[in-house]
Amino acid sequence: MRPSSEIDDVKVLIVGSGAREHALAWSLSQSRDVSSILIAPGNGGARYLPLAHRVPIEVTDVTGMVACARQEAVDLVVVGPESALEAGLVDALAAEGFPVFGPNRLAARLETSKVFAKDFMRRHGIPTAAYQQHIDFELALSYCERLRHNVALKADGLAAGKGVILPRTEAETFGALERLRGSGLWQVDQPLVIEERLNGWETSVFALADGRDYRIFAHAQDYKRAYDGDEGPNTGGMGAVSPSPLTGAELAVVEEQVVAPTFAGLARDGMSYVGILFFGLMMTRRGPMLLEYNARFGDPETQVILPRLRGGIAEAVRACAAGRLQEVEFDWDPRPAVGVVMASGGYPKQYGIGHRIKGLDAEGNVDSFVFLAGAEETPDGDVVTEGGRVLTAVGLGPDLASARVAAYGRVKTLGFESAEYRSDIGLEAARR
Ligand code: AMP
Ligand code: GLY
Repeated sequence: MRPSSEIDDVKVLIVGSGAREHALAWSLSQSRDVSSILIAPGNGGARYLPLAHRVPIEVTDVTGMVACARQEAVDLVVVGPESALEAGLVDALAAEGFPVFGPNRLAARLETSKVFAKDFMRRHGIPTAAYQQHIDFELALSYCERLRHNVALKADGLAAGKGVILPRTEAETFGALERLRGSGLWQVDQPLVIEERLNGWETSVFALADGRDYRIFAHAQDYKRAYDGDEGPNTGGMGAVSPSPLTGAELAVVEEQVVAPTFAGLARDGMSYVGILFFGLMMTRRGPMLLEYNARFGDPETQVILPRLRGGIAEAVRACAAGRLQEVEFDWDPRPAVGVVMASGGYPKQYGIGHRIKGLDAEGNVDSFVFLAGAEETPDGDVVTEGGRVLTAVGLGPDLASARVAAYGRVKTLGFESAEYRSDIGLEAARR
């Protein structure tokens, strides 16, 4: 196999099927060194990227993915979703000598197990909400009472950002505990994490890591609730803005209190981390508090971060996989980006699929982009809806207001039956 840092016709395999992976493929294809991009399994967005081809392999099919990497002789693998990390894809690819962007299964537990993450934060002095984990119903209830029912309830394991319950009263706490018990999400082998509920504003900070060093990469803000004004159920994300309102001074505090101790802690625990680490933070009056880690790019954050990175992400991901992150320079477009997710009517609950998406072939404007997620190509060449979150429309502008105009301008050119989207993404007042 060729050493990946020395070649200039790089063949990349991207694992995943969301708008995040579409944005990654689009950004990678801006590098002159990248000659070909495989996306497994990808989505209907691949047809808009001349270098991209899809391969029909599920993200957790480790054997199939490794066989594909071998057969196609790829030079680099970029792993999108946490389910692939948890399935051990990075470990299997690394064992075969492939340069991989993504943490191994052990390091990915920072995301895949809330209990592991909270223990890690406590062990390494990283500010986070007080918490306990409980198997027993009565003990769980009495801890909630101690926190005066000001709690966040989290079932361990993967819940794709939808696993948090924030009850408001004693009765709601009791009802939520009963429902969790009944649902099977809270069992002997899956203790419930009960956290103190924090108040403040949320931001996501991203750091790249090459197994030795880390670099702060970018920050963004996402909108998790389904409806305007942060109402409605939690979703996988209905929009995002980058940069977030973090000041330079606040970011320095986040780095000192959260990011640096995390990487020092990983080293102390003997874990090597390669890839991107996403810090989900609540900025409180007591300073930044870490809500969660994600061991991967965020979705929809990636869709608003990558359009701001001039020259694309190829050099950075190659450097991470090759252990030479310190050599990389990031050239950021100072303009903010706003991303609006268009979802199928009814998402995140029941929704229909198979509706034709109009406007995708419209001439792209240099200040707006469309990244597809739940969208598939039909045999007769149409692109139809296929999932809950269908696409992210992104706009760049000299200020936030202009970026919003660019993003919503692009939204207006698109359409499918019963499309839903929030109209307040990037509104200044909602941000902090
Ligand atoms: P998570 O699944 O941990 O990412 O949490 C999803 C969302 O739940 C976060 O983005 C917050 O909005 C909210 N949340 C989680 N933990 C807390 C907490 N301790 N206090 C307040 N809100 C929380
Ligand atoms: N936007 C949050 C996530 O990717 O989990």
